Amino acid sequence: MNEPLGVIGAGWVGLVTAACFADLGHDVVVRDVVPERIAELEAGRVSIYEPGLAKLLERNRERVRFTLDLADVFSAARIAFVSVPTPSTYSGEADLSAVWSVLDELPEPSERAILVMKSTVPVGTGEKVRAHLDARGLAHVGYVSNPEFLAEGTAVRDFRQPDRVVIGAFDEADGDAVESVYARIEAPVVRADVASAEMVKLASNAFLATKISFINEIANVCEETGADVAVVAEGMGLDRRIGPLFLRPGIGYSGSCLPKDVAALKQLAGNSGYHFQLLTAVIEVNELQKRRVVGKLAKHLGSLRGKTIALLGLAFKPNTNDMRDAPSLILAPRLLAEGAVVRGWDPVALEEARPLLRGVELCPSLLEAVRDADAAVIVTEWDELRELPSAEVREAMRNPLIVDGRNFLAPDAVRAAGFRYEAIGRVASDLSALPETEETEPELLT
Ligand SMILES: NC(=O)c1ccc[n+]([C@@H]2O[C@H](COP(=O)([O-])OP(=O)(O)OC[C@H]3O[C@@H](n4cnc5c(N)ncnc54)[C@H](O)[C@@H]3O)[C@@H](O)[C@H]2O)c1
Repeated sequence: MNEPLGVIGAGWVGLVTAACFADLGHDVVVRDVVPERIAELEAGRVSIYEPGLAKLLERNRERVRFTLDLADVFSAARIAFVSVPTPSTYSGEADLSAVWSVLDELPEPSERAILVMKSTVPVGTGEKVRAHLDARGLAHVGYVSNPEFLAEGTAVRDFRQPDRVVIGAFDEADGDAVESVYARIEAPVVRADVASAEMVKLASNAFLATKISFINEIANVCEETGADVAVVAEGMGLDRRIGPLFLRPGIGYSGSCLPKDVAALKQLAGNSGYHFQLLTAVIEVNELQKRRVVGKLAKHLGSLRGKTIALLGLAFKPNTNDMRDAPSLILAPRLLAEGAVVRGWDPVALEEARPLLRGVELCPSLLEAVRDADAAVIVTEWDELRELPSAEVREAMRNPLIVDGRNFLAPDAVRAAGFRYEAIGRVASDLSALPETEETEPELLT
């Protein structure tokens, strides 16, 4: 029989979890604290842009119910997945206030229940939650760490075909109960203690960020020395010990997960008395990498005062409307500070970008964004931008300069189409041999 399930937090992770488990036949109750979000979901609308998600929720409408009341979740289900936000505080540590508010509101279940933590939390959180539950007399509420590794843009696929399922439990029977919910998902299961499960998530994200910062530094050295990072990355990636993914240079990692999780791991180490030097460098390289685009524009245009720059792609990655920690949020203010006129275009995230990109002229079409522009910058590699080096765009621009922050286009073809072209760490190569970006830059783990 399919166990009824609860999901707490109706965001990217929560909705994907709910839709995928419902599709496997479970009845799912989803709780959020934002009344408009619940009303929207009840009306069959999904405001987050995630390929396949709306369809999956629609197909399983009968099995997914939405509520504002946490007690509803525990009257319907014994196992509840927690997928509330854990953003960065100013110090870089994870803000666990949403997690604690779930615990404070937790009703006393009449029979054994299990809280399954999918949110990314610092190592040691499980121990603290366990102590809190015990202190409240809720020893019969189990706690399991089950970190989530899906990447936005490919979240449904990632959930259904994960590389692994990690389950860390204090009580073996609770771990077994959660493992059985995943029985029809084919993936290796890693059973662990709670602290190790928590660390798998943080270490995985930190490693991916390190790989990205590493190839970005190689790209920067390639620019100085005349080597071509596309060839270098291909040559490195064929080594099975290295692997080809996350070796695409660009303007740095971004999004709702990698930056905050890397910062959280660095802070966690620091709070435990360990200075994580490597992560300090990874973060610094990433910050500088976003700003290199400004230098590339200045190399071609001189002063940017009064120059019109079109930022193409505003969401942090393609196939999402998530603006959290998007590089456009760093680049636009930098360019405005230089006195540039900044335009922005994105196929799905314009509304989400509007309140965040003050002073930027947002354009509904690519052609409007590049009209009379002095440069077009590829910030997010949306598929639509494959068509950028066209005669129509060249004629529309005042100055046909493309700065490709994602090494997305083929340099020779762009130059042959009459554009000046700048990319990251390459001279005149074609990165098409590298794996597609959606596979290379998941915010996997967020
Ligand atoms: N987005 C990703 O790609 C991804 C991937 C893996 C892991 N994660 C982790 O999963 C967690 C959730 O991330 P997300 O991107 O889904 O966040 P999100 O911001 O998209 O969604 C979180 C939802 O939780 C709701 N919420 C807040 N407090 C609540 C409460 N007390 N009870 C119920 N709902 C509450 C919010 O209103 C929001 O709808 C984070 O810890 C994140 O690091 C995210």
